[in-house]
Amino acid sequence: MPRKTKKPAIKNNACETRLSELKQLLEVIERAKQMWQATFDAIRDPVAIISEDYDIERANIATARVAGVDIKELVGKKCYKIFAGRSTVCDGCPLTHAIEANNPSISKLGNQIHKLDFEASAYPYPGGKERSKATVVHYRDITEEKRLQQELIQQEKMAAIGMLAGGVAHEINNPIGGILAFTQLLMRDVQRGDPLRADLEEIERAAIRCKKIVADLLDFSRSSSGREKQWVDVNTLVEKIVPFIKAEMKSLNINLKLELKADLPSVYADANRLQQVLLNLMTNACQAMAKGGDLVVSTYADKTDLCIQVDDSGCGISKENFSKIFDPFFTTKPPGKGTGLGLSVSYRIIREHNGTIDVESEEGKGTRFTVRLPAIKEGR
Ligand SMILES: Nc1ncnc2c1ncn2[C@@H]1O[C@H](COP(=O)(O)OP(=O)(O)O)[C@@H](O)[C@H]1O
Ligand SMILES: [Mg+2]
Repeated sequence: MPRKTKKPAIKNNACETRLSELKQLLEVIERAKQMWQATFDAIRDPVAIISEDYDIERANIATARVAGVDIKELVGKKCYKIFAGRSTVCDGCPLTHAIEANNPSISKLGNQIHKLDFEASAYPYPGGKERSKATVVHYRDITEEKRLQQELIQQEKMAAIGMLAGGVAHEINNPIGGILAFTQLLMRDVQRGDPLRADLEEIERAAIRCKKIVADLLDFSRSSSGREKQWVDVNTLVEKIVPFIKAEMKSLNINLKLELKADLPSVYADANRLQQVLLNLMTNACQAMAKGGDLVVSTYADKTDLCIQVDDSGCGISKENFSKIFDPFFTTKPPGKGTGLGLSVSYRIIREHNGTIDVESEEGKGTRFTVRLPAIKEGR
């Protein structure tokens, strides 16, 4: 007679208890996972776990937002591709250093896709996928911090050079006036055709050029007292400038397009100084289009600001020169064509009006300067 196998009741009970314990444990793990995920996603800075091969293993929502992709698409992607739009590891990658040194590492990285700057801190963590090494990387957005820092440096530099330039220009102004006056007197006595005449004309030309540079320098060092300020309609200002550069535009085969929005708020400004800024920007734009092109000047209101944009389809600004263009005396033009003071003077004038001046440029394609000024609606 076959023996019946009957499990003892006690063993069954033990199994059930074990099963429910396991279930409880799974619930605890699931809750911990959810808490961890919620904490991870609540961090507003991007945080990601990245393998030693630069593959993203986990990432929070902020990472997906900065990368501009769905969070599901992040896993398995290379961090340098997602963050910097590069096909190779970023220079100074903190992850490489953290893994090599087995110590936290911090460095500054740029996000070229979204033009953001980050401070990335990498913390080595031994439990990455398949037991390979990995790091937790925290990215802090320092774009605004960097911009403010650079602006501060620029302002300090401008103030120092302004003082120096002002002093020198005052000293030089009178002797140059003397040279010019005496040259012109001598020219009256020297007949046309006399070999001395050509020399005197050369002296006169050089003195006039120096006078222009000195005038630019004095302008640069002058800070507006505020007495000359009045309510200004920017559209009228733009239209008044056009005749000044019409001849240059025609000779260079440049098409000018004005896109001036109607009913714009007025700005409280020194009209002459503001005109000088626009003339500088438009002259630069023309000079950048030696083989012709399009110059578009537009005005519009944006929140509480009034914006003036000067776009050209010219040579653009190289990466190397981009950070230098507002420096006094920085020029890429031959002597006689540029003094390198136009943009530094413009920068100073716009700062004095509590405004900002920004530039975007692509080499070979063109440049856009945007001036923003605080504006007040008519009937203020
Ligand atoms: N619209 C532009 N397109 C290309 N380069 C520009 C433009 N505006 C300015 N730049 C660059 O910035 C430099 C400085 O400009 P600026 O201060 O006006 O001095 P300058 O015109 O006398 O050279 C220029 O020499 C040029 O290299
Ligand atoms: Mg210029």
